[in-house]
Amino acid sequence: MTAPVLTRGLLDVPGSSLADHLAAHGPMPDVDLHALVDRAALTGRGGAGFPTAAKLRSVAAAASATGRAPVVVANGAEGEPAAAKDAVLLVLAPHLVFDGLALAAAALGASSAYLAADPALLPGLARSLADRGDRVGVRLHPVASAFLAGEESALCAALDGKAPLPRTKFPPVRERGVDGRPTLVLNVETLARLALVARGSDLGAASMLVTRRMEIAGTSWVDVVDIALGTRLGDVLRLDDGVQAVLIGGYAGTWVEAGRAADLALDRGSLAQAGADLGAGVLAALPADRCGLRETARVVGYLAAQSAGQCGPCLNGLPRIAAALDLLARPTPPPSGLLADVRRWSGLLPGRGACSHPDASVRLVASAFGVFGPELALHRAGRCTARTGRPFLPVPGGA
Ligand SMILES: Cc1cc2nc3c(=O)[nH]c(=O)nc-3n(C[C@H](O)[C@H](O)[C@H](O)COP(=O)(O)O)c2cc1C
Ligand code: SF4
Repeated sequence: MTAPVLTRGLLDVPGSSLADHLAAHGPMPDVDLHALVDRAALTGRGGAGFPTAAKLRSVAAAASATGRAPVVVANGAEGEPAAAKDAVLLVLAPHLVFDGLALAAAALGASSAYLAADPALLPGLARSLADRGDRVGVRLHPVASAFLAGEESALCAALDGKAPLPRTKFPPVRERGVDGRPTLVLNVETLARLALVARGSDLGAASMLVTRRMEIAGTSWVDVVDIALGTRLGDVLRLDDGVQAVLIGGYAGTWVEAGRAADLALDRGSLAQAGADLGAGVLAALPADRCGLRETARVVGYLAAQSAGQCGPCLNGLPRIAAALDLLARPTPPPSGLLADVRRWSGLLPGRGACSHPDASVRLVASAFGVFGPELALHRAGRCTARTGRPFLPVPGGA
């Protein structure tokens, strides 16, 4: 696999030092963050696309109701195995993230601030931090490399020294998070964009970092690019005959047939028409020589293994669905009724877990059945269109 490459946009700075950063973006102005973020209509880049202004307001309200100073957390966990944008951002433009964190902390009157990320990134971040004089000191915290570690309640638990597991949605972390305080958790890209919005930059709310995964002449390629919202996906990825489908969003995302994906725009409204979402900003172009069912079975096997096994849907449902998918992904007739069983089980999972992990996993499965339906029929007849079994999507542990 090639190393992630950043080609242009948000991270297009000559270097990652504070001097480079100030030369590229200038000093941070004194702004009324609440009003600015509202006007900019900035949405979160950690997956759910929640309006950042509403989050800021709700944490401020919880702080004033409880009389406890809030905590702000920069979420750099990047638990999504197909994504690389947060790591690239933290390496190439750490000061934009620290600026955003300082802005959010000041706007909320926070008592403490954290940046949580892969342990390998922490020494570089510590060097960047040492050059700064932020009013609220930032503590760096290592995050386990696990799909759920970046879920906000799991992250707050880890910052409190507990196991990094999601907990029930109530009370939400914006009311009771780290140290029982109202806690603002924002993705590191959201914070970087906050810093640009504050400076009045066009790159603020109007674009997003995308991790592209594709194959070029049989060689795997992954890069991170800053793409204007509204751009046609056909202009972001080369979606010719060599590509059969695009995984949009990541492993909590959706498969869309390549021809249809080409005309979708990189924005929530357009993607929603295809039942898709921007998610963690992953666009993976599945080559025509792979089996989409096999790729989905590998990913769902990983997602089932990653669940914390605390709630019914993850304890019983996901492992069963993963095992059934593994059978359906083989070019042999599956046990009779298995496909109907998976559909039925999938219908039972949504809304029943403490977090949205099972909901997203079954949405991925449903999209695979829609896009790779003809392949399902071929498998029943003992055939498969794949010309290679070489894995395309990265699955930690190499399933
Ligand atoms: C299963 C699961 C995993 C998640 N993993 C991450 C992650 O690795 N990084 C991240 O920023 N957000 C992740 N999130 C979203 C966070 O819970 C939270 O919504 C986000 O950090 C908020 O930031 P934003 O408003 O800037 O998007 C995950 C959510 C779920 C349900
Ligand atoms: S729904 Fe699944 S992943 Fe989410 S908290 Fe419950 S067991 Fe864990």
